[in-house]
Amino acid sequence: MGRGLSAAPVSPRLVLGAAALVLLAAAALPSPAAGVNVTAVLSAFPNFADFARLLASTSVAGELSGRSSLTLLAVPNANLPQSPSAFVAGAGADIADVLRYHVLLEYLSPSDLAHLSPSGKLVTTLFQTTGRAPSDFGAVNLTLGANSTVVVRSPAPTPGSNATVLGAVTAVPYNLSVLAVGGLILPSGFDLAASETRPPPPVNITRVLTDARGFNVAASMLQASGVASEFEADEHGAGITVFVPTDDAFAGLPATDRLQSLPAERKAVVLRFHVLHSYYPLGSLESIVNPVQPTLATEHTEAGHFTLNITRVNGSIAIDTGIVQASITRTVFDQNPVAVFAVSKVLLPKEMFSRGDSGSTAIVPPSVAMAPGDTSSEQTPQTRLSSPPDLHGEDSESSAALATAKGASWWRIGLMYLQLHLLFLSLV
Ligand SMILES: *[C@@H]1O[C@H](CO)[C@@H](O)[C@H](O)[C@H]1NC(C)=O
Ligand SMILES: *[C@@H]1O[C@H](CO)[C@@H](O)[C@H](O)[C@H]1NC(C)=O
Ligand SMILES: *[C@@H]1O[C@H](CO)[C@@H](O)[C@H](O)[C@H]1NC(C)=O
Ligand SMILES: *[C@@H]1O[C@H](CO)[C@@H](O)[C@H](O)[C@H]1NC(C)=O
Ligand SMILES: *[C@@H]1O[C@H](CO)[C@@H](O)[C@H](O)[C@H]1NC(C)=O
Ligand SMILES: *[C@@H]1O[C@H](CO)[C@@H](O)[C@H](O)[C@H]1NC(C)=O
Ligand SMILES: *[C@@H]1O[C@H](CO)[C@@H](O)[C@H](O)[C@H]1NC(C)=O
Ligand SMILES: *[C@@H]1O[C@H](CO)[C@@H](O)[C@H](O)[C@H]1NC(C)=O
Repeated sequence: MGRGLSAAPVSPRLVLGAAALVLLAAAALPSPAAGVNVTAVLSAFPNFADFARLLASTSVAGELSGRSSLTLLAVPNANLPQSPSAFVAGAGADIADVLRYHVLLEYLSPSDLAHLSPSGKLVTTLFQTTGRAPSDFGAVNLTLGANSTVVVRSPAPTPGSNATVLGAVTAVPYNLSVLAVGGLILPSGFDLAASETRPPPPVNITRVLTDARGFNVAASMLQASGVASEFEADEHGAGITVFVPTDDAFAGLPATDRLQSLPAERKAVVLRFHVLHSYYPLGSLESIVNPVQPTLATEHTEAGHFTLNITRVNGSIAIDTGIVQASITRTVFDQNPVAVFAVSKVLLPKEMFSRGDSGSTAIVPPSVAMAPGDTSSEQTPQTRLSSPPDLHGEDSESSAALATAKGASWWRIGLMYLQLHLLFLSLV
């Protein structure tokens, strides 16, 4: 470039153009972000994918891009709480601040850790820079524990949580050192004792779902519909129980388009239909006395409508809408007054999705028995999904076809085939 500028034959216009190009290129580079891209660094370590996702979702990853000489205390997926932000919110803290507490503003290699003095080493974290940390509680005290393990904790007289350094993960000398720690470390001042004196902040259920993974569709629908904001009132009342269909449940809904293309108002009704107006931990759902429960959607319509029938089937909890039977697959979050459960199917209210309507093909028809060619099977009465058809009692053709079908998975494959078939029939 320098030589080009001094060479006589180069026209001034060309020089200007080249200079403009250089400027443009410089502008296109994330100039202050010359430091490290922590998301890219962690992407090589699937074991830390959840922690990386938290950093990215809270903008903390972005805050790091302009910095160098950092040590990141990363928590392996298996050591994170099921819903990190809800866990942290329980202690009255904000997940972003807790993540900032895991960013030390000093580059520490494993050998630095091996040479800690007995009085420990105080290292400032990114959290200290927010000004929200009282005194120097935004720093961590690194000390040598038993067996020369390094323990990270708050320097406060009554320390918050602590974690052990498990080992080095990777390093980009001397900009970023990534060390694995045994768990999330809450700064002092955000301990559970403090949160007892003030009401806990409302649980952000959308965030719980975003953290928990596998609920992207439900989370974005709740957020977009504004229904999530209706939950807060419930959290202050009798509590709230939310049944959240997994992404797989949405994917398994042949009529997804139809659900997604409902007017916003109707979509909100379907979402409210997934919510009970009381806090029911798993144990109380199992022993529920009145199986027919009103939902949030009931409140917006009339009594007796939009109810869920909650029963026990074979030791697990089944939720019946009259046209869909779903089961609870896991507890996503449970902290009085909020319970969030994953469910295997989207709960379609019978008031909106009537049978025989192609929009409701999510409803599994009665039995695989079932002569698929016979369209009247759509009219046959619904049997409980919970009791798969007796494979021996069917007509010869289907029992031959199903002779090898011993497990529930084969049964499900059969149902899927039938669903597709019925969908096809309804299209022709
Ligand atoms: C480290 O950061 C400095 C400035 O922040 C940057 O110039 C350098 O390229 C970085 N090194 C690596 C290996 O990322
Ligand atoms: C960091 O890396 C990730 C993935 O490699 C990429 O999506 C993101 O845009 C990068 N961020 C910056 C600021 O370069
Ligand atoms: C220290 O190491 C020994 C031997 O490896 C082990 O038996 C012991 O449980 C360790 N103690 C602690 C506190 O980690
Ligand atoms: C850090 O911890 C060590 C060991 O418990 C303690 O002796 C030291 O006083 C602590 N440092 C600070 C600044 O709290
Ligand atoms: C770390 O936390 C555990 C559990 O809260 C506690 O028993 C232990 O004493 C703490 N260790 C240090 C070094 O603070
Ligand atoms: C709840 O969390 C979501 C996702 O993190 C966020 O977009 C939303 O603004 C939060 N809502 C409230 C009320 O804080
Ligand atoms: C609720 O489900 C149970 C078991 O599936 C069934 O016996 C009961 O009749 C249902 N109740 C109503 C009101 O649908
Ligand atoms: C319920 O249990 C019975 C008896 O163990 C079994 O035959 C049936 O397949 C089970 N149903 C479901 C839905 O798991």
